[in-house]
Amino acid sequence: MKPPVRIAITGGAGQIAYSLIFRIASGEMLGPDQPVILHLLEVPAALKALKGVLLELEDCGYPLLQNVVMTDDTNLTFIDVDYALLVGAAPRGPDMERSDLLKVNGEIFKVQGKALNEFASRDVKVLVVGNPANTNAYIAISAAPDLNPKQFTAMMRLDHHRAIAQLAAKTGAEITAVKNIIIWGNHSATQYPDISHATVNGQPAKSLVDQDWIVNEFIPTVQQRGTEVIKARGKSSAASAAFAALSLMRDWAMGTEQWVSTAIVSDGSYGIAKDLVYSFPVTIKNGEMSIVQDLEIDEFSRSCLQASQRELEQERDTIADLLH
Ligand code: NAD
Ligand code: LMR
Repeated sequence: MKPPVRIAITGGAGQIAYSLIFRIASGEMLGPDQPVILHLLEVPAALKALKGVLLELEDCGYPLLQNVVMTDDTNLTFIDVDYALLVGAAPRGPDMERSDLLKVNGEIFKVQGKALNEFASRDVKVLVVGNPANTNAYIAISAAPDLNPKQFTAMMRLDHHRAIAQLAAKTGAEITAVKNIIIWGNHSATQYPDISHATVNGQPAKSLVDQDWIVNEFIPTVQQRGTEVIKARGKSSAASAAFAALSLMRDWAMGTEQWVSTAIVSDGSYGIAKDLVYSFPVTIKNGEMSIVQDLEIDEFSRSCLQASQRELEQERDTIADLLH
């Protein structure tokens, strides 16, 4: 057996965590031969509910689950962790945009960034799920100067899956037949779901659908899918978000040659301002993400990329008081 790895999950009693924790404990994130120790963080008021999660974990008897640390102490949560999934934060309700959560949630990511900086494994990989995810990741990165910004990503994988599903349904293709979808930008209504480079069963996606569908149906449907789910369920997406988090972390740990969308610190690729946490197409090898380079960006795409950049710059200005 391999030595265990430590995985922190914040918001352990929340609805995403309830879909996530059990799958991680069963080996779906790191494989069937990788023992895990879970570090679960909650606010004091939710520790009782977290205890219920712990009881259920015990009742599953997962062979890979070696131990569970359950706490309301942020510093303790991150001691020696190899992976951190920062889920705990307030979700939006109906008639809110994700950016409305900035002031509510931003402080959480400052505190957690500092604790990661001080206590986590020097190789920790951090996924920010709590909204607004890109700017929360930006705050956490700035609070963790001893970690490499490349150790942080913000979750766009749910948008990536949503876009694949929409294109597969429209073309009548299998999900696995769709390749090279990209989500650019912010996890918000300005994100740009881009099929310019996508293929379906090896054929260019753009030859299979018309521009009117792309602009008036596909893009708004993916941009607004979170809102649609909230309106239908009365709560924000949870199982699909947990699956997206699991998929991204598995790819980060194991690597993928497929293009996947995830928000990382911009290195200036595609003219995007350096340091913003912006979603790009990436491939992953040996735990390192590389932005897919040299894609042709037409005028329509360029304006969409820039609109999302502008929104991220505004969000960054809004939280300036939380930096450092
Ligand atoms: P939830 O309200 O069900 O659970 C959140 C949990 O976090 C609660 O149990 C709460 O007590 C806990 N929490 C709050 N502050 C905390 C802190 N400082 N430390 C530790 N725990 C804390 O919410 P949810 O549905 O699980 O969603 C969690 C977050 O994920 C929300 O911000 C939501 O908007 C976001 N989200 C992001 C994506 C994405 O694609 N990036 C998708 C879905 C949801
Ligand atoms: C989603 O995309 O489903 C989540 O970010 C929740 C939300 O607020 O839309």
